[in-house]
Amino acid sequence: MSLNQNHQQELVELALVLVTDLCSAGGSLDSALLALSDRFQHVPPTVVSRIAELFVVERPMVYQRIEAMGLVLVPPGRHKIYICRAANCCQKGSGELLEFVLQYFGMALFETAADYGVRLEPFYCLGQCASGPNIMIDGQLHSRVTLKQLEKLLMTLN
Ligand code: FES
Repeated sequence: MSLNQNHQQELVELALVLVTDLCSAGGSLDSALLALSDRFQHVPPTVVSRIAELFVVERPMVYQRIEAMGLVLVPPGRHKIYICRAANCCQKGSGELLEFVLQYFGMALFETAADYGVRLEPFYCLGQCASGPNIMIDGQLHSRVTLKQLEKLLMTLN
């Protein structure tokens, strides 16, 4: 089990305790969702079924309240990294860059790192094909990125 998976499991357990305590104390569904969002910056999707059971509502109602309250099901991450996975950048090594980031943070694509520091997503052409492989970190394009340069960039993220 990876560090990120361990963290996710701990997060789910904490979330379940929090929601159960709030429900036992007579809190409302909305207050429980807000508490989860305040504590974890998202409502973990894996606890939605339990929330529905505790508050005696259907799961779609929980999702409806999450959307209506402007909450999210995925932690946003403080930094967003996009790695171009279109043909030109792939030929120039963007796959290696992607694997490096996944291993560096111990996470999978579309996941947010355990400390919510980084979210990684593939991207299909950043419009700078001739200067690939290209990545974008927090809106800033980096071209002709090598593994060494990528490591330096990742070390600056906090
Ligand atoms: S293929 Fe990567 S920027 Fe176009």
